[in-house]
Amino acid sequence: MSDPEKMWGARFQGSLDETFARYQDSLRFDIALAFEDLETNLAWSEALTAAGVLGDDDLQQIDAAIRELAEQWCEGVPDDDPGAEDVHSYVERKLVQKLGDLGKRIHTGRSRNDQVATDVRLWLRQAAIDLVEQLERLIAALVDKAAAHAADPMPGYTHLQRAQPITIGHHALAHVEALGRDRERLLDATARFDRCPLGSGALAGTAFPVDRDALAARLEFHGGPTRNSLDATAARDHLCEVAFACAMAMTHLSRLAEDYIFFNSQEAAFLSFGDAVSTGSSLMPQKRNPDAMELVRGKAAKVQGLMQSLMVLLKGLPLGYDRDLQIDKELLFQIVGDTGDSIAVAALAVEHARFDVARCAAEAERGFLNATDLADLLVQAGVPFREAHGTAGAAVNRAVELGCELQDLPHDEQRRLLPQLDVDLREELTAARVLARRDVVGGTAPHRVQKEAERWQIVLQEWGEGYGELEELDPDGEDPLAVADDD
Ligand code: ARG
Repeated sequence: MSDPEKMWGARFQGSLDETFARYQDSLRFDIALAFEDLETNLAWSEALTAAGVLGDDDLQQIDAAIRELAEQWCEGVPDDDPGAEDVHSYVERKLVQKLGDLGKRIHTGRSRNDQVATDVRLWLRQAAIDLVEQLERLIAALVDKAAAHAADPMPGYTHLQRAQPITIGHHALAHVEALGRDRERLLDATARFDRCPLGSGALAGTAFPVDRDALAARLEFHGGPTRNSLDATAARDHLCEVAFACAMAMTHLSRLAEDYIFFNSQEAAFLSFGDAVSTGSSLMPQKRNPDAMELVRGKAAKVQGLMQSLMVLLKGLPLGYDRDLQIDKELLFQIVGDTGDSIAVAALAVEHARFDVARCAAEAERGFLNATDLADLLVQAGVPFREAHGTAGAAVNRAVELGCELQDLPHDEQRRLLPQLDVDLREELTAARVLARRDVVGGTAPHRVQKEAERWQIVLQEWGEGYGELEELDPDGEDPLAVADDD
């Protein structure tokens, strides 16, 4: 006896082994494509109607049934059909329940292979937009920090050793730069998969005269139809690109998290997190832990692993569709979900982080962060830099011996160690002077940081107005990030 329950039952006498049936079932995760699948069902029915396969009132009934389902599912798609093995059979069975034989006609000339390819592209398009918006919120939180602290000094690090002073705003905008590139990467990836696979059939193209250009326009794919049916049903590099954009963003979030966790340590004590994003210890009553940022750092590991799984999933696969490809969505949904959640939590953590401006400023004056500037002062007095470097180093050694800072070297020590210099070190080596000297594009001089923060505020406003998204992708278009430098 064949299995009439199954959409492919005709050649089968027995039913699926229970264990295998559960194993192959993807409905528990690909139900996330339910609305995209309704959308492609409607578009395909319209295409079949235009091709003369369905009549106008068939289409009307299908349209009404699809709208009904969409409405019923607004509050959540019910998990009420154990016989469906994936979202496509689930939707088809719902349509057959409503439309009888007419529901069975919709699958004419179509395969789940071009259907799933189309559903995922539609889903991914919206997912990328959502991620971009979340990134914009995080960028806005960091730009707010930058504007508030454009001139406030803090120690800057290399090798996790205090190096030179920077401003708190400069640090915030460094992370903004990276996250801005992540945003761009997502948009860029979106443009590349903006083509419609529907009409590719199982692998060879549909045998019915559907207008694929019209179908692509109907589903708002700006690049038109895909150009090779075998590629269209087998390709998953667009998932990988979005996964990479997510993994890269997670890496950037993880570095931001690491910075803030360190800044929050008692050793640095540059910032504290508000109650909204901190947790305590079940044992140690004194603790306030930066769990939000720690979880963000941890999720980065997970997303990177999932991205790797996606890449490896593809590498041995022949063209066209192979069932391995079903797993792509399990990975993709987690990658995108975890990335979106992590961006949102990182934004919260930034919003709830308060810098101890006085301590940051005091620490920027300690620990010889101005030694480079002492060498630079010697250079200005005519000493070759290599020599100046040695002289300044010797001055640091002496200051260490005396237990003081460079600017506090006694007069006679200064005259002995730095005979070329006839300046007041107390004035020349303050963190404020050190910062002000970095007065180049991209430097940490407070007015530069202030201007960069203002530039980002304009960019954010343009993003908010939906400006530039296509221009950004147009190589000849104006770069919205390129704001004229007025000096
Ligand atoms: N559920 C499948 C997937 O997600 C699509 C169905 C194609 N299945 C098939 N046996 N051709 O990839």
